[in-house]
Amino acid sequence: MTAKILRGRVLTFIAEPSGADDHESYRYIEDGAVVVDQGRIVSVGEWNEGVRLVAPKAEIIDHRPNLIMPGFIDTHIHYPQMQVIGSYAKDLLEWLNTYTFVEEQRFADAEHAARIASLFCDELVRYGTTTAAVYCSVHPQSVDAFFAEAKKRDMRMIAGKVMMDRNAPQGLLDTPRRGYDESKALLEKWDGVGRLHYAITPRFALTSTHAQMEMAQDLVREFPDVYVQTHVNESLGEIEFVRELFPNLPDYVGVYEHYGLLGPRTLLGHCIHMTDREIAALSETGSVAVFCPTSNLFIGSGLFDRERLMASNVRIGVATDVGGGTSYSMLRTLDEGYKVLQLRGQRLSPLESFFMMTLGNARALLLEHTIGTLEPGADADIVVLDARALPHMALKMEQVEHLSEELFLLQTCGDDRVIAQTYVAGEAAKTPPS
Ligand code: GUN
Ligand code: ZN
Repeated sequence: MTAKILRGRVLTFIAEPSGADDHESYRYIEDGAVVVDQGRIVSVGEWNEGVRLVAPKAEIIDHRPNLIMPGFIDTHIHYPQMQVIGSYAKDLLEWLNTYTFVEEQRFADAEHAARIASLFCDELVRYGTTTAAVYCSVHPQSVDAFFAEAKKRDMRMIAGKVMMDRNAPQGLLDTPRRGYDESKALLEKWDGVGRLHYAITPRFALTSTHAQMEMAQDLVREFPDVYVQTHVNESLGEIEFVRELFPNLPDYVGVYEHYGLLGPRTLLGHCIHMTDREIAALSETGSVAVFCPTSNLFIGSGLFDRERLMASNVRIGVATDVGGGTSYSMLRTLDEGYKVLQLRGQRLSPLESFFMMTLGNARALLLEHTIGTLEPGADADIVVLDARALPHMALKMEQVEHLSEELFLLQTCGDDRVIAQTYVAGEAAKTPPS
């Protein structure tokens, strides 16, 4: 692994943009250089002869006129659902029962899991995503397969075995004891290995008994530095079912609160139909609400209310939620996110979008010094964006004058074809088109 100097237009956020024109929120270098070595960013600054002194033997890779940014981060995605994507259903529960709970049973087969884990990492890299918070299936072998693949590629990944012991087919059920034992064994095996992190993953309140929730709480008490990921308040039918299952608890968020599962390392997918009490609980505990726009539109779950959550200082992440979500691309995801918020009469500026898919999501994961940034010392996980990759985009670029306009074009029209390269731990990882 030799050192590399990536030359191009460099963009990295340093703060959350306070509006569409907050030029203090980012660092932009028109003719910039990012020096990477041993998987880390060594320096970032203007391209000039002095750069060579930092790493005299470095290979120089000229990415001009493309944009060099931190790799994208996806805070909620299901790898066993690669072959569920695009499945036709009336609502969440029909979609889960008809397709998802059938498909996930195939992950009892370690070979199948290994094949899909590899294809999954290929897709993330193709779309410029270098870190994701990933749901595996209930089977420990699905978690082993995923972490083994991520480790082989030296990717920074968060993942966990879904714990589920009711309201699903027999082949997808563990028991409170097995859920605990298997999660603990996987956590001890993988958390902290290379760039891997474990997430305790009770799937959602609907598929866990009280006994299983208690066991998840035991895990969180024993391993307080580990992530927790689950779903909440995605669809009305789901909420009604949870109310029947936990009649003595105030609401859906109240279930996770009761079992001690909220906190700054807790990622809660969806958070669409929220009461004021639930929002206050997220805010007080520092839990993260994860916005999954393509999934919410595709399944017809509802429109995320970003301003209402922000008004209560709830931390927010953004994610694809494949296979409920319809694209691996964080660009496509933020494009749909923009449209959801337009329908709500809320603004999402291009600067805010690109902040969210990089530093914002890194903050949601409490990893802002490690990923989502090009500051020296951070992981060299980098994406190179080509806003002229498609003819219609190149034409539009003839009239683009400002960085924000270019970002908005990338978000509105971009997909894997605008990802000129993805670097994982300093190495080019995107397979060139054949
Ligand atoms: N709620 C519980 N499991 C799932 C899932 O796999 N996808 C979505 N979108 N919602 C869920
Ligand atoms: Zn999900």
